[in-house]
Amino acid sequence: RIVPVILSGGTGSRLWPLSRKSFPKPFVTLPDGESLIQKTLRRVIDIKGDAPLLTVTNRDYYFLTRDTFAECARIHGQTVHNVHYLLEPAGRNTTPAMAAAALWAQEVAGPDSILLVLPSDHLIQDQTQFAAAVQKAADLAQQGYLVTFGITPTAPETGYGYIQKGAALEGGYQVARFVEKPDQSTAQDYLDSGHYLWNSGMFCMRADSLLSALQAYAPEVLEAVQSAMDGASRNGDTWELGSAFKEAPDISIDYAVMEKAPNVAVVEAGFDWNDLGAWSGYGSLIAKDADGNQVHAPDCVLVDTRNCVVQSPDRLTAVLGLQDILIVDTPDALLVADRSRDQEVKTIVERLKSRK
Ligand code: GDD
Ligand code: MG
Repeated sequence: RIVPVILSGGTGSRLWPLSRKSFPKPFVTLPDGESLIQKTLRRVIDIKGDAPLLTVTNRDYYFLTRDTFAECARIHGQTVHNVHYLLEPAGRNTTPAMAAAALWAQEVAGPDSILLVLPSDHLIQDQTQFAAAVQKAADLAQQGYLVTFGITPTAPETGYGYIQKGAALEGGYQVARFVEKPDQSTAQDYLDSGHYLWNSGMFCMRADSLLSALQAYAPEVLEAVQSAMDGASRNGDTWELGSAFKEAPDISIDYAVMEKAPNVAVVEAGFDWNDLGAWSGYGSLIAKDADGNQVHAPDCVLVDTRNCVVQSPDRLTAVLGLQDILIVDTPDALLVADRSRDQEVKTIVERLKSRK
């Protein structure tokens, strides 16, 4: 049984001001009318069958998550059954979130259940190829591998994990090396070598394989999360993790486990993959006009303006004589930025936090 685990506890600060602490990226309605978490959910409905589905999120996003899932059922007429919520008292990154998912699965779905861990920050259109890759990954996971999904890299991006392919396996490869977020020149070397893939951020593994890896490489995380599970308040499909969760080190699964474990495998994604980490990715959802502008603003006047991204759903917006600029308007905050510096938008969010 494949048990989907949807992670949606990050804040997505590079999509500020659309993505906010109180309303983070997975819940933002995209130009096509659907949110990333809805797309993620819809992608796995058929794969999951009658298996349980778990969503691990911050307790602040509980009602938002429930509402979104209900909305998804309303739009698509597909009610998703057997959905469970695991709520964190504070965000501690993906290792504690996945540790909690594995402990939950051990109890609810069985230790040999296969977890399909899905972040909710990318777009995948090709459902058929996605399902095929998941099947290959599940077969490898069954054999005890921690399976990643590899994307053919197109640029020396520093915001991704890089995977070096090793010996061939049925349906995939052993991972010779996993390097999370290398610096620019290392990323360029990896790209030039042709031997590396980007890590998509999705994972597939048996709950017991993940627990053994955590025991070996991140025992302090496992210990804190186990206490948080023991202290969880359980109410039907919703478990609220105990405060011991906050003692877990803040570390992503990429650094904690994937860089270290020997039994990591990769399945090459036959599907399209678009990371909506930053504004350039978001812009790609919007068709370009003749001047290269990507405009999501019903009432907008552009004069002598090229290659700009304009997101302004609520009011008349006019732009004169600009190029390569990002303009994002929301009811209470406005961003104007150099388009090529979209990865740095998170520094604005850090600055805002330190102001309080
Ligand atoms: N529940 C929960 N709790 N979810 C979290 C938390 C947390 O504390 N922190 C992050 N997440 C969720 C985010 O909402 C997102 O869906 C996913 O976990 C990944 O977190 P990111 O913070 O977006 O990771 P990243 O983009 O820096 O890096 C990861 O994804 C890249 C591809 O997009 C890594 O796996 C990279 O190796 C990978 O290339
Ligand atoms: Mg991300």
